Amino acid sequence: MHKTPRDIIAKKQAGKKISVVTAYDYSLASLCDKAGVDILLVGDSAGMVVLGYENTIPVTMTHMQIFTEAVSRARTQALVVGDLPFMSYQAKLSDAIKNSGKLIKAGADAVKLEGGIEMIDTVRALVEKGIPVMGHIGLQPQTTMLSQGYRVQGKTAETAEKLIESAKALEEAGVFSIALEMVTTEVAKMISESISVPTIGIGSGKYCDGQVLVIHDMLGMYDKLKPKFVKQYLGLSKEITKAVEKYRKDVESGHFPTKENSFAIEKAELNRLKELG
Ligand code: KIV
Repeated sequence: MHKTPRDIIAKKQAGKKISVVTAYDYSLASLCDKAGVDILLVGDSAGMVVLGYENTIPVTMTHMQIFTEAVSRARTQALVVGDLPFMSYQAKLSDAIKNSGKLIKAGADAVKLEGGIEMIDTVRALVEKGIPVMGHIGLQPQTTMLSQGYRVQGKTAETAEKLIESAKALEEAGVFSIALEMVTTEVAKMISESISVPTIGIGSGKYCDGQVLVIHDMLGMYDKLKPKFVKQYLGLSKEITKAVEKYRKDVESGHFPTKENSFAIEKAELNRLKELG
């Protein structure tokens, strides 16, 4: 049996931290699920780390449905959250409901959307339809990246107050958790202490109820951006390039494949084949 939104809330109530990584494909999702993380987030960061776009804006529902299907086929115990991509939920409530339904049908247990107070009606509508929602405030790549770039959020009393209000409003609307992206440590702490649903931090310090990292960042597989908040647990870019280079040299020199990597026809059949010719 896999985890549910209720299990995630229960972890906060029990004072236990929540671990989240992003996942987009079957193989890596299987490994992360096996490692015991609580949530596999099919993030629209896939647009950058998997599809090679500059930002998350070009990501479509079709992309997210395919990634969500692959991840949900891999998981055995984690909760799967599917990210609603840019403009799949902002224009109309009916878009939000229809597109969230698509992610749920693709295998997600919940959806994530960016936005604070301005998204309350949308969150309410989805929760009323029985779709669990993870909120996302602080840096909102879909709406602020184009105009502001990567900026730490909650650095002034006014912006911090707005974040706290948004978190409370999202809780009120029924989210089961809230991602806090690049929020100052002190403000993330205040938010975490002022709501009963868990906060999942990314670049928001140690007082969040859980942490999320983009899997390609933590495994050292994406070299284009190196945010200060990432902890790299492996340096796979170098390892993978080294391994593929070795393979290329083996192919070029004839060291691969060997007999061990090949299939043989039985001698009698080979002789018969020769006779046929
Ligand atoms: O798309 C994503 O990976 C995310 C996380 C950074 C929270 O939204």
